[in-house]
This record gives sequence, structure tokens and C-alpha cells, in this order.
Amino acid sequence: MATKRIASPPGTTDRRIDALLTLLAENSTIVISGAKIAAEIGVTRQQVWRWMEKLRALGVRVKGHPRSGYHIERMPDILVPQMLSHRLYGTPFARRIYHFFKIDSTNSVAMRLGESGEQHGAVVLAEEQTAGRGRAGRSWASEKSAGIYCSVLLRPPIPPAQAPLLTLVAGLAARDAAAEDLDTLPDIRWPNDLLVGGRKFCGILTEMHAEPDRVHYAVVGIGMNVNQAKMPDELADIATSLRIETDKVHSRLELLIRLLRHLDRYYNQFLAEGAAPILRRFAEVSSYFKGKHVRITTAKESFTGTTAGLEPTGVLRVARDDGRGIEPVLAGDVAEAS
Ligand code: BTN
Repeated sequence: MATKRIASPPGTTDRRIDALLTLLAENSTIVISGAKIAAEIGVTRQQVWRWMEKLRALGVRVKGHPRSGYHIERMPDILVPQMLSHRLYGTPFARRIYHFFKIDSTNSVAMRLGESGEQHGAVVLAEEQTAGRGRAGRSWASEKSAGIYCSVLLRPPIPPAQAPLLTLVAGLAARDAAAEDLDTLPDIRWPNDLLVGGRKFCGILTEMHAEPDRVHYAVVGIGMNVNQAKMPDELADIATSLRIETDKVHSRLELLIRLLRHLDRYYNQFLAEGAAPILRRFAEVSSYFKGKHVRITTAKESFTGTTAGLEPTGVLRVARDDGRGIEPVLAGDVAEAS
């Protein structure tokens, strides 16, 4: 079946800048002439010069000029679609990657792409978000090139009642990807906040368009704090980054590749084997699965209780302290209670 061609949303990074960055990165040990670059990516030498200036303004350290040639001093940690696409070969995420240097929210772009009929697996990435969205109407701080701001468009053949499982799938993938960069294992606070030392470094916002019996499309938006040297003052007590935790700068590109590969694995496992392996894995890696005393805040109430596992649809079960039995929590904030 022919795949529908979707026009790139306004503001998408020019594919030729993407090609330029890939070329420079792949030839990082040599000086490469302006004429050769121009010929390879199909633009004039003047255009190459203008783009080099743009990249320099974005913090990419390129030395040289059109006559002598260019040389990249340090590999830029920009989430370049062409490079990602090579490394994601064999997954549905390799095919359609939209990159923005600056956008309001990658989730908003991905939802619009879903509406226009874009295919399963499309990925939207931004170096910076000006209106990053979090759960429950909160905002998501999205400092330029410090974190991963990524939304994935999925078209899962499931009813909306199973959608909470998608959220768990994404949380497990992000957790496995980040675990390799941390000295202590990250925890998952239901449904998918990633914590280290009790502070959050990754959050996931799942939005969807569904009919009563079928999810039309879902967007899984992942925000991970990676190289922030400091969190904004108002968040410092509750939020952290991988860099703050490890005192090291991490490759966002490598992390994102791992994350999308794990997402592919868990998603396929979920479709092939159902909820059971996902719930088992969640029980293994989340201290919130069972026996944790928590405060739950939903749109209609706030109460305390002890977590008592998950229902087969991924809903959290909480044994209420007020004696009113087990409460299934479909959505809400979970906080550890004393
Ligand atoms: C949360 O509140 O924990 C969820 C945060 C989700 C943030 C990500 S960043 C990429 C994507 N685009 C958005 O606007 N939000 C999500």
C-alpha cells in the first residue's frame, strides 16, 4: 500500500542542514572543502557558508571557511534526523523524523500530524520548546539542547481502555534507556514518572484521539532532563537531570536511540503477548507497584492509601486508609506519603 505523503509542518529543520551536519559529523577528523560539501548536499558554497554561520550561532564548533575547508571541532549533540534514522533502521521510527530547532510543543505537532493521516512511528523532536506541556495542564521546562523533547505518533490496534498500558510501555522504555547512564537505578512512579534519588528527571504525556472501541492515534510525548546543569529554582527540590546526578554530560543522541529501540521492543511485546509481560516488568522496576504508602490527588478528591498492584489494563489499585476498600486510580497525581 502506498504511504500518504504528508507535508512537513512549518518550521521543520531544512533537510539540507540535516545533511550538512551529518556530513560534518561523519568526517569529523578531516578538513572538508566548501566545494565538496556544496556538491554533496546540492547547494552553493555561499549557502554552505551561511549555514555554517547559523550552526555556529547554535553552538556547533566548526572551524574554517569556504577556501580552506571546514572541520568540526566537537561532535554536536543535535538530534539530527538523518543520523537517527540510520541508527533506528528496522524500527518504525526510522522512517519519518521531524526536527525543529524551536517549536511550541512536539506533542501539539504530533497530534496535528496524526490528524493529517501521518503514519505510525512518526517522531517529532525539538531542541527547544516554548510551550512544552506536562500532565494535568502543567508546563514542561524545555531548556535549549539540554533535554530530550520527543513525541512519537502511534496507531495501536487497541481499544481506549487499554491505553494506560501504552503509557506504561513508554515509561519502561525511557527507564531502561536512562538506567545505562546512571549509577543508581531509576524508579518509576506510576504511571511513568522517572525518579532518581526521589527527584523526577523524566515525564511522559500521552494524548490520543479515539472512538469508543478503537484508538485512532496516540501521541506519546517524552521529556527527559539530560544535560541541565541546574534546574529552575522553583523545581530544584522535586526535579533533577542526569547531569546533576552523575556530574557528567550525556549524549542525547545515544540516549534517544536507546529509548526508541526499547520503545519498539516493549511496544511489539505488548501487541504480541498482551499486558502480562508489561505488568510483570513494571512490578520488577517500580517501588510504587505494591506496598507504597501514597497520597493520590485526582480531579475530584485527594486521599491516602497503600498501592496494591495494577489491574490488567494498567490502572493503579490503592487500598484506601479511610477503610473504603480498593480504589482503582485511572488518572491522577501520586506522591509518596509519610
Ligand atoms: C509530565 O507532566 O510529567 C509529562 C511531561 C511531558 C513533556 C514532554 S516534552 C515532549 C512532549 N511535548 C510536550 O509538550 N510535552 C511532552
